[in-house]
Amino acid sequence: MCGIVGYIGGQQAAPVLLDGLAKLEYRGYDSTGMAVYDGREIRMVKATGRLKVLDALTKGGSTLSGTAGIGHTRWATHGSPTDTNAHPHFNGSASIAVVHNGIIENYQKLKKKLENRGYQFVSETDTEVVAHLLDRYYTGSPLEAIAKVMHRMEGSYALGIMFRDHPDEIYAVRKDSPLIVGKSSQGNLIASDVPAILKYTRSVYFMENEEIAKLSRDSITFYNIDEEELVKEPSEISWDISAAEKGGYDYFMMKAIYEQPKAVADTMSPRIRDSRIVLDELGMSDEEIAQISKIYIVACGSAYHAGVTGKYVLEGMARIPVEVDLASEFRYRNPILDTQTLVIVISQSGETADSLAALREAKTRGSRVLGIVNVVGSSIAREADHVLYTWAGPEISVATTKAYSTQLVALYLLAMKFSSVRGTISEAEFTSMLEALQQLPRQVEFLLGSQERIQKFANRYLAADHIFFIGRGLDYAISLEGSLKLKEISYIHSEAYAAGELKHGTISLIEEGTLVVAVLTQEELYPKMLSNIQEVRTRGAFVMAVANANHADLEKNADYVIYLPEINPYFTNSLAVIPLQLFAYYVALGRGLDVDKPRNLAKSVTVE
Ligand code: G6P
Repeated sequence: MCGIVGYIGGQQAAPVLLDGLAKLEYRGYDSTGMAVYDGREIRMVKATGRLKVLDALTKGGSTLSGTAGIGHTRWATHGSPTDTNAHPHFNGSASIAVVHNGIIENYQKLKKKLENRGYQFVSETDTEVVAHLLDRYYTGSPLEAIAKVMHRMEGSYALGIMFRDHPDEIYAVRKDSPLIVGKSSQGNLIASDVPAILKYTRSVYFMENEEIAKLSRDSITFYNIDEEELVKEPSEISWDISAAEKGGYDYFMMKAIYEQPKAVADTMSPRIRDSRIVLDELGMSDEEIAQISKIYIVACGSAYHAGVTGKYVLEGMARIPVEVDLASEFRYRNPILDTQTLVIVISQSGETADSLAALREAKTRGSRVLGIVNVVGSSIAREADHVLYTWAGPEISVATTKAYSTQLVALYLLAMKFSSVRGTISEAEFTSMLEALQQLPRQVEFLLGSQERIQKFANRYLAADHIFFIGRGLDYAISLEGSLKLKEISYIHSEAYAAGELKHGTISLIEEGTLVVAVLTQEELYPKMLSNIQEVRTRGAFVMAVANANHADLEKNADYVIYLPEINPYFTNSLAVIPLQLFAYYVALGRGLDVDKPRNLAKSVTVE
């Protein structure tokens, strides 16, 4: 949610900022802006729309000369996406420039106080308060002003700040919104995420909450909120820039879809040794696993849907009661937690504000938290008691595919580990599941081969008004994800229903020609699903079925069938999701939409 970049060094700053912002557009893309110190003044250019508008306005950055600057790509929260509301924001005399990611929760109170002192606001944003507040407390020392302002602000913020009086410095501040600092021989950088600076350096400092960084051309100094200097060690980023580039694909989403066999294998393989599941990295003893009396899975968006799958799998295999909750609900509903409750927080980014708040709530109430996280060193990874990383690599497209698939694998591994420790599955069942699990990358690869067929089918539904997804049990869990994928990138209204629930209301929406995607991979529920398919077909629906390969008879009962390779029933979601992702992708593509950057969305939602 909003991307920040900053650079100070020997090169022209604006092209470096544009380059970094291009890697951060997944965080928001309704408006952009840069501020660069040109030797006398801080000059600023802002534009509504995508980064290409700013790029054109500044001729690739060439019209903004100077070697120190800050840039921003916005996902509007306070104030609509306009040039004026775009970041950076200035104080009244344009001597302090600020870019911000997060929300200053007490901004109205602060704004009133500032207005009473004569400060004039030009934008509707909460961020402008920061620029004026800095002005109010600045008496020559940026560090002192920043610390004073931090004491007065509530909420979450990652900030990039420049002071005209200190042209050889840029400042970075972090509280509850991600920010990293990169150290390179060509200059130093700040950014919301690693891909923005990977072209220049792999040496990265992860800022902690309430830390301040002062960057000059050849030095980086960190301070705490009491202005005391801190000693921090940089981390080396091990992945390559090519992981964050399109590599010949039209869209990042398609690249990520095709990376799934590898992502699934990378998440699974290091944890399978000598026919056992080894999760030593969790730091949970068998005794601790045996004592878990209840599990909550808490997450947002697709990660929540992975959690719904997790409930079926964990309850089914390990016989532990599992409740799945949306993080935004869980954190405010006074959940019943104790020391024997394990809270699993699932998050690709590890920065989602509600998921992070849910984690903190759970810890405060004495429960242990296990994070299933993709971004190494992210807030959720750092604050959870136990972490199981998904090794999906950087995921750039807003709609998640490969990260979701690796979250499923992480949940399977946990469920199998917990089951074997608690003795809820036999040795023979365990062995057969382990074999099935190891087939997954190859089977996902196989399904990706149906791309052309699915594209043809998708092209028939480009003008659909509504599409429904139905399933039972685990197939209901995957229907939720299939429906979300479709609606978020194609803007076609879509809903997922537990197939048995359809007749309690939703069936009234089925008309002649309505597409219903039915998922039927759970053998014991197959006859029930057939009845549900009949119910909708009788009312005119066209049914696309996703089913196990052994049901050739389905052709008579559905209008279009996609068959999945044979797999253990617990793991079918990992296969069923592939045609559903491809279907959503091709519908969006056929409708001429920007698949990677759906309207109104952002990948990393760092505000409530
Ligand atoms: C946003 C993204 C979704 C994602 C959700 C949770 O809404 O658009 O794709 O599933 O956030 O994100 P997280 O990083 O916590 O998995």
